[in-house]
Amino acid sequence: VKQLQYQQSTHRLGGNFTRAGTGCAVCHTHQGYLERVETNALETAASVTDPAPINCRTCHMIHTTYTAADYGFNKTSPVTFWNLDPETGEEYTADFGAAAGNLCASCHQARPLYERVQDAMVPMLGGPEVTITSSRYGYHYGPQGQVISGTGAYEFAGSATITGGPNTHGNPEANARLCATCHMAAGDGVEVGGHTWRVSFHANGSEEQNVAGCNTCHSGFEDFHEFGDVPAEILDLLQQIDAILVSKGIKQQISPGYGIHTLHYYANTGTYSATLAAAMANWAMFAWDRSKGLHNPPYARAVLTNTLEALQALP
Ligand code: HEC
Ligand code: HEC
Ligand code: HEC
Ligand code: HEC
Ligand code: HEC
Repeated sequence: VKQLQYQQSTHRLGGNFTRAGTGCAVCHTHQGYLERVETNALETAASVTDPAPINCRTCHMIHTTYTAADYGFNKTSPVTFWNLDPETGEEYTADFGAAAGNLCASCHQARPLYERVQDAMVPMLGGPEVTITSSRYGYHYGPQGQVISGTGAYEFAGSATITGGPNTHGNPEANARLCATCHMAAGDGVEVGGHTWRVSFHANGSEEQNVAGCNTCHSGFEDFHEFGDVPAEILDLLQQIDAILVSKGIKQQISPGYGIHTLHYYANTGTYSATLAAAMANWAMFAWDRSKGLHNPPYARAVLTNTLEALQALP
């Protein structure tokens, strides 16, 4: 069944394993990832020829002892993020646990913001203007690692207190299997859960949400809107921030949706205040995360509340 589930997953079917250039192969190809596990470099030494998609051997060591050790992981140590700490400009590390989290987060992390601005001058709160040089300003696609560990966003002052760090969902001491608890929970056949890594799927025109993982800690959840409807709350904050970013000219258009193929995130290149550029980065982080705050509700709520207030205070 693991084979069958994997065959349905985006890891297998997403198609982006052809992103095999040196800067992409490290996360998008089997070969590039194994090279990175050794070197921890941002790029492979050369483009990967004949790239293979993420597969059993990308994550599992699969030697041939014919014991459970065959399924040990290629990456268990804490993750040093590629994006630098926005306050200090230094590298920083987070521990997602050896049971799955460090493996997943080593790929599901933001790519560096400094690649998208002139002279690597990223926004500093209260600092000088920033020149955005790429319409793809923001955090590439998978900043889940940052969101779950409660790190990496710009912490504007405001009415909310930003505690930072993970909530229980992302704390390996409380949730040892971390990503796997929710994304690899027992599911329904080959459509959700297990090695599909999916927590929801579309069936008969409606979305089915797999709450099996949630209910290992919570009780009686029927969908992701329980316990205060965090997804609705965070979506509202993201949409309000988006509208202001567009009205101030830094962002091209209001995003029509928040799914991977409906997200519109392009920036207008040009020079902007640090406040606008940092606010856009924060929007991108939580929009690309795509859990609508569920990966870390207190962090998402506090960061976005203060980001919205900072934008509303602009002249
Ligand atoms: C080798 C890097 C790598 C590792 C390790 C990895 N992922 Fe992924 N993941 C990716 C990439 C790249 C994609 C997108 C694939 C594509 O579009 O071709 C992806 C896609 C996904 C998706 C689907 C997203 C969507 O929009 O459909 C989920 C969910 C996911 N990964 C969860 C996980 C979990 C949970 C783990 C740990 C058990 C994990 N990943 C480990 C790189 C990785
Ligand atoms: C740090 C790891 C990492 C690197 C480096 C990386 N990606 Fe990705 N990429 C991911 C992950 C993880 C996903 C899936 C994220 C998700 O579904 O939330 C993804 C998704 C994508 C997607 C799918 C988006 C969609 O709309 O379906 C494209 C396209 C993509 N990456 C292109 C690239 C290109 C081109 C490069 C090199 C310039 C690159 N990536 C480098 C981790 C990475
Ligand atoms: C993206 C990374 C990833 C890929 C790709 C992957 N696995 Fe896994 N696998 C995991 C994780 C994480 C767990 C632990 C899940 C948990 O805690 O529930 C796991 C668990 C397992 C287990 C249970 C091991 C045990 O000790 O109980 C087996 C067997 C397994 N995988 C086989 C496979 C096979 C076969 C493939 C290819 C078809 C595959 N895996 C692909 C990440 C991966
Ligand atoms: C507390 C449960 C939980 C944990 C822990 C968790 N996730 Fe998620 N994740 C979700 C939910 C819920 C969504 C929203 C998906 C949806 O609505 O389909 C999501 C969305 C995602 C997506 C976008 C998938 C898509 O289909 O749009 C990716 C990729 C992802 N998570 C990766 C991770 C990674 C990597 C980790 C560990 C570092 C992780 N998640 C930990 C619950 C969790
Ligand atoms: C490892 C145990 C665990 C899992 C798995 C888990 N939760 Fe939680 N969750 C908690 C705990 C404990 C709290 C309260 C303390 C905190 O936020 O750290 C919480 C808080 C929440 C909150 C309220 C946060 C806020 O600040 O308003 C929501 C909503 C929530 N969880 C939804 C979910 C959903 C949906 C899932 C499954 C996709 C899930 N949880 C999976 C343990 C868990």
